[in-house]
This record gives sequence, C-alpha cells and structure tokens, in this order.
Amino acid sequence: MKLWGGRFTAGTDKSVDDFNSSIRFDQRLYKQDIEGSIAHAEMLGRCGIIPEEDAALICKTLLEILDDVEKGSIEFEVDAEDIHMNIEKILISRIGDAGKKLHTGRSRNDQVALDLRMYLKVEIGEMKGMLIDLQKKLLHISEEHLETIMPGYTHLQRAQPITLAHHMMAYFQMFRRDIGRLEDCYKRMDVMPLGSGALAGTSYPLDRQYVADRLGFSAITENSLDGVSDRDFAIELASCISIIMMHLSRFCEELVLWSSTEFSFIEMDDAFSTGSSIMPQKKNPDVAELVRGKTGRAYGSLVTLLTMMKSLPLTYNKDMQEDKEAIFDTVDTVKMCLPVFTKMLASAKINRSKMYKAAQGGFTNATDMADYLVKKGIPFRSSHEIIGKMVLYCINQDKAIAELSMEEFNQFSDKIEDDVYSQISLEKCVSSRNLPGGPAAESVKRSIEKGYKFLENYE
Ligand code: ARG
Repeated sequence: MKLWGGRFTAGTDKSVDDFNSSIRFDQRLYKQDIEGSIAHAEMLGRCGIIPEEDAALICKTLLEILDDVEKGSIEFEVDAEDIHMNIEKILISRIGDAGKKLHTGRSRNDQVALDLRMYLKVEIGEMKGMLIDLQKKLLHISEEHLETIMPGYTHLQRAQPITLAHHMMAYFQMFRRDIGRLEDCYKRMDVMPLGSGALAGTSYPLDRQYVADRLGFSAITENSLDGVSDRDFAIELASCISIIMMHLSRFCEELVLWSSTEFSFIEMDDAFSTGSSIMPQKKNPDVAELVRGKTGRAYGSLVTLLTMMKSLPLTYNKDMQEDKEAIFDTVDTVKMCLPVFTKMLASAKINRSKMYKAAQGGFTNATDMADYLVKKGIPFRSSHEIIGKMVLYCINQDKAIAELSMEEFNQFSDKIEDDVYSQISLEKCVSSRNLPGGPAAESVKRSIEKGYKFLENYE
C-alpha cells in the first residue's frame, strides 16, 4: 500500500505508477534526503514533538540505510514513487511505528525543496573547484606566453597584434565572473525550507533554526508558500551554467579554428584528438567540438526549467518534479566538460612562429602606423585616410607595411622618417599598449598577479 493510501479505495494503475515515479532520477538525492531527515528527526525529539528514543532510533536507522544504499544493497521501488517515500518506507519496514513518526510536521513539498538545495550547494562547490583548476592552467599558459605575439581579431579578420597571454587572460576574466555568479547563486540557494510544510507551515512548534544550523544553511525561508514553490535557485544555477558553457564554447570554437591547417596556431595532443574512420590523415579536435556541442544541452535545460515554472499557480504542482532531470543534466554536463577541457588545453602544443607570421600579415600594425602620423602632428582622421591608401598600395604590391622603402613611405607622407620601422614593429605595437587592461607584457603580468591573488581566496 502507498504511504498516502488511506483515502483511496483502489490502487493506482500500473501505467500511472511508472509515469508518476521519479525514483529513476531522484535517487541521487538519497544522501541529502537522509541527512535532512536526520536533522528533522533530531529536532522533533529535542522539541518534544516525538519521544527522544524514537528520534534516536530513527536517526540510527537512517544512518544504517545510508550505509546500505552506498553498499548498493538496496533496491528502490517504482511503486514508492520517489526517493523521499522510498527511504521513509524502508525506515518504517525496519522500525515500524517509530519510523512512522518521522514525517511529523513535514511534507514532501518542503522535503524535496530542501534536498535539491542541499544537493546543488555541493555541486556548486565542485563546479567552482573545476573552474579554479582551469584558471590555474590559464595563468600558467599566460606566464609562459607573455611575449608570444599573435593577431587579435574582430569579425574574424586580423585586427591588431596581441599576445597569447592576453588572449588567455581574457578567458580568465570570464571564468572569474562565472565563479562570482555561482557564489551569488549559492547565497540565494543557501536558505532552508523545512517548516514550510505542504504550503501553509505547521502547527507543531518546530525549531527551524536548529535544522538550518544542523544542515549548514545560513538562513531559513521567510514564507511557507514561497518555501515550497520556489525553483528560481535551480533556474539561476542553470543560467550560470549556460553562461559557463557559452564561454567554454567560444574557447572551443577558437581551439578548433586554431588547430585547423589554415591557422595551425596549435596542435592538439594525440590524447585529446581522434582520427577518421575513412580519411587516414585526419586528426580531429573532437573534444573541443563536443564541449561546444554540449552547450546546447545546457541552454535546453534552462529553457525547460523556465517553461516548466511559467504560469504555475502557487504553490507546489507536480510539474515541478520535472526540475530534476533538467538541472541534473546541466550540472552533469558542465562537470563533464570542465576537467576534460582543462586537460585538453594544457596539453595543446603552441606554434609560436605560426602565430607570429599570422600577426605579420593582415596589416595588424595599420592602426599604429596611423598613430605614428598623429604623433608627427597629423589629425587622426586624416592619418587614417592616408594609411588606408597605404594599405591599398601594399595589397597591390603584395607587401606588408613594414616592407615599404622610405621612398614608398614618403609617397604617402613626408612626415614619415626612419624611426617608422621601429615604431610599427609588432613588438612595439604590443609593448606600447601598456595601459591597464592592455596586451603589453607589463600589464598582462600585473593582471596575472591579480589572478593569482584571486585564486588565493580558494586555497
Ligand atoms: N517527487 C516529487 C518532486 O520531485 C516530490 C514532491 C511530491 N509532492 C507531492 N505533493 N506530490 O517534486
């Protein structure tokens, strides 16, 4: 018989059991469910709501059940619907009437809200750790490549010379904000809903604060209706994860491009590439592509959660059971992507000379050439036009700006002198951009130092 079977005269149809049941995917909440129940039972005992001996027996038995679940010696039942009722049923089968007292002053509605918050709080910690590992790698690569010149792009057209370090540190900033977003999300998640009951609280004198302290929550929910019907903590997390995946997918896209023969900026390690079943020459950047591809799953989960919650009247509705597969999948996805991405990036070989050659082409120093004339007293707009013509000339002559002779230079302006060559070298273009946030080795070094300082918070 169902734990809620008293009001019913007939059992549920088998198809409804299968349809309604969430045990298939919510069994992963077993630990949080048991920990939450232990805290609840302890509190019931301390407050004199149930006898202390019963509370003690419940807690002891729940720990044994936890042990058995972890040993794999428990088979959950579809008929018992979800993890909450499965655990409660096992408890009752072991200790009878004492076990039947556990659910006093509690509903599955506040119980599931509790379990999910507890579970996701742990997951946030793990995701943060993975982002930090990735950031460490980015700092190492950046330190090594402070002087590795490459083209920076806009519109995927070569634009201005930068360094690989500067490029890597751009991603460092993105992941730093991602960590910040996860921490913000955590703060709002870190609120304890037990005591909300089914929706309207309970008349038992529960000590909600005790339960919150016992379970490591920093606050208790303020409104029982909100306590059971809020899922924005999961939506917010799905949104944080979507942004992480978006960042990873941009990074992956670049690594895919960079490992193409056309770019050849990097070579993926064999261990992170795959071959083709037909084309013997192929070495494909599958890992980067798959991370890029999995981004869609994260967005999908976010939209699933938003749509599931859209227009739901207060408070709990069974629709909300659908939150779990979506949020679990998105958490699993990003946790699968981050470590493999980090390893792949760390093992990629950097081809400095290809990067340098690419920066030499594409007139990446044209802006600096225009700035050169500005320094000689020509207004920027006029100088821009002069250099535009110079670039066109170079294209026709198949030359880089730095390859022009002084005679050729002077056809465009008599203000150009011998010092031009040193002023428009790629090294100079980079090193002169030493303002905060710029690509010069000096400023990137400062940014790396700040990066290490940031990571110290997580030692
Ligand atoms: N398995 C349910 C869920 O995940 C638990 C809450 C059920 N509450 C209810 N009133 N049916 O949402």
